[in-house]
Amino acid sequence: MPANSDPERRNVTANAQWGGRFAAGPAVIMGEINASIGFDRKLWRQDIRGSLAHAAMLARAGIIQPEDEAAIRAGLEQIGAEIEAGRFSFDTDLEDIHMNIEARLTDRIGEAGKRLHTGRSRNDQVATDFRLWVRDAMDGLDVQMAELMRALADRAAQHAADPMPGFTHLQTAQPVTFGHHMLAYVEMLARDRGRFADARRRLNECPLGSAALAGTSFPIDRHATATALGFDRPTANSLDAVSDRDFALEFLAAAAICAIHVSRLAEEIVIWCSAPFGFVRLSDAFTTGSSIMPQKRNPDAAELARAKTGRIMGALVALLTVMKGLPLAYAKDTQEDKEPVFDAADALALSLAAMAGMVRDLQPDLARLRATAGSGFATATDLADWLVRVLHLPFRTAHHVTGRLVAKAEAKGVDLSGLTLADMQAEEAGITQAIFDVLTVDASVASRTSYGGTAPANVAREAARWQAALV
Ligand code: ARG
Repeated sequence: MPANSDPERRNVTANAQWGGRFAAGPAVIMGEINASIGFDRKLWRQDIRGSLAHAAMLARAGIIQPEDEAAIRAGLEQIGAEIEAGRFSFDTDLEDIHMNIEARLTDRIGEAGKRLHTGRSRNDQVATDFRLWVRDAMDGLDVQMAELMRALADRAAQHAADPMPGFTHLQTAQPVTFGHHMLAYVEMLARDRGRFADARRRLNECPLGSAALAGTSFPIDRHATATALGFDRPTANSLDAVSDRDFALEFLAAAAICAIHVSRLAEEIVIWCSAPFGFVRLSDAFTTGSSIMPQKRNPDAAELARAKTGRIMGALVALLTVMKGLPLAYAKDTQEDKEPVFDAADALALSLAAMAGMVRDLQPDLARLRATAGSGFATATDLADWLVRVLHLPFRTAHHVTGRLVAKAEAKGVDLSGLTLADMQAEEAGITQAIFDVLTVDASVASRTSYGGTAPANVAREAARWQAALV
């Protein structure tokens, strides 16, 4: 049966871009598995930017005529406007964004459009476009991480001296301040920004001009295109440039770690909102109701921020798996790099925005935080430290004495401050009334003045430092 009457064949004619050696179009299923236009249309801005830089360089190098470059530039700008306005019709038969734009350019401007692809290949083109896209995503996320840090630092400044229970093993450990807890996440996010910034530095080399895999015989100026596109320099090895996607892997790794940080805060908000804790309240703006239980106020945004981590981690594993064992140079496998990255970038952007909104919105119940901060013998360490500082007991001995006092208080059904001086002296004769001064939560947090500790003076200073750094 001739190819053009086969119902499984989509096209009677071969591809306009590379069909010179083909007599007929692909099988329908071939077209389906091959086409990436459904998702890589997201790269249109980067593709046009890259082509403008390439054409300008070709003209400057005398490889194409200035009038052709002018026509290409005008044509690409019009195509950009068409896509922006939603008037561009994407064609699956043209596989991807690169061929869609190039074919439309030739439709519009004729022969000059056919000169654009001189000295380049889709392999260096897509590597360039995708680096530009990931770089833009990094820059957008950096702004968002800074916004979340700013929201946290503002809450820290506001609550620098407000005590809350500090936990280890999710068991009451020692009082901390709410501000100190907020600033812990500021530190995590600062490292996340650093990870993205490190990855950005390595990403910022331009593959354009590496051509299919071996470079090109045309006298192109790769330094010029690299500079025009905001890269620090051209990539140094054409095989590496068209085939590696480690810049995307680093992006996803940084995104996954950041998402894990966001998920930890999200989890805390979920716990803190639950009635038995009652540490914070989210307003109606960040709460949903239940269709059956009228009393419910559910922290869905926090739950979703917690859950989106799954797809971001999944994206990293997916792309690691795609890249593993790929021989040099380009292989179509790498077309599978885009969807995980797009999805992870969207998920992280949404989580960061929702988290910043929740951090600004949440109202801590300061009275409850203060009350629970002092429960569960939370100042037992302060008592032991007093025995060391004032009576010069060895710490291990002080720990044992305090342990007996905790057991005694528990048996009496009181806090440590509910014990009498006589109760105390029965365990350690040297104890004086002054010990009761260190058993309050305020005294406890105020005493933690070591570098990085929770003392309100430290927290206020750190919050102010971050606020100044994050303007
Ligand atoms: N859509 C392709 C991708 O994303 C573009 C590169 C195609 N190159 C090729 N030789 N088929 O990887």
